[in-house]
Amino acid sequence: MPLDSRHLVGLRELSGSEISAILDDAARLRDQVQSGGPLNELTGHIIALLFLEPSTRTKSSFTTAAYKLGAQVLPFDAKTSSTTKGESLLDTARTVVAAGADALVIRHKRVGSPHYLADRLQVPVINAGDGIDEHPTQGLLDALTLRDALGTLEGRTIAIVGDIRHSRVARSNCHALPKLGAKVLLAGPGTLCPPEMAALGVEVRPRIDDVLEEADAVMLLRIQRERIGGALLPSIAEYRRYYGLDMARLAKKPGLVVLHPAPMNRGVEVAHEVADSHQSHVFRQMENGVFVRMAVYRRALGVR
Ligand code: CP
Repeated sequence: MPLDSRHLVGLRELSGSEISAILDDAARLRDQVQSGGPLNELTGHIIALLFLEPSTRTKSSFTTAAYKLGAQVLPFDAKTSSTTKGESLLDTARTVVAAGADALVIRHKRVGSPHYLADRLQVPVINAGDGIDEHPTQGLLDALTLRDALGTLEGRTIAIVGDIRHSRVARSNCHALPKLGAKVLLAGPGTLCPPEMAALGVEVRPRIDDVLEEADAVMLLRIQRERIGGALLPSIAEYRRYYGLDMARLAKKPGLVVLHPAPMNRGVEVAHEVADSHQSHVFRQMENGVFVRMAVYRRALGVR
């Protein structure tokens, strides 16, 4: 049975026009916030942020997005919650709904956790990252940032470089960007970007130089040390040489748009100077994250 369209469990499930509608609403909300217009559409709503994995950007921008729309955020700290006493995810979610939450945002290490809750709860569920599978609001904010920078995604080529295998960001982008008309190229060490990643409907090439030449934008990914053993990695020096974006590589592409979902490992996949260059859109991605999450809340809670 198809999921209720108030949920956002992944970009795999959305059409290009549904994704574009969220991006358009986010851009409209950005204009409204920047012109000082009143935004109180979610006054009286309570949103629970169930982050059972660490986060800085996603959690803080889901929080400010709620405040900017007039909603309240229900405090939840995994370390001091009853999950530490063995309470299940479903009972935890049911508890915050019983306490008055109108929508749930969930980050969890287990793939499919948001789908599991969405099938069982009456309130909208928003995926803030499930294991290695999807991070849909990151994919949306990446698409909005790329659209801002390139004018359109139609006919553009976007390279994603690094640890694709363990990246929910890469997966969400691979589901979304082709639906918006972009070509996606992947590159990374064979252990972290195996040929079977082409099953996502994108092209896989061996090294960063094999994708940069053709790319209008590049998204650099950090090595997800928390999800892998050291055996999958070349040395850091070798990684930097074949997959890192330094100023020498950037100098060959003066118009290249540089993205990174962050946190960045400066000096590994991205040089300090590149991260802070005018070609870097990393902090614009974070700003857009707030507007995208506002649009996702409006969709979830039926505000049109
Ligand atoms: N990009 C991202 O998801 O960052 P956080 O893990 O800090 O939320």
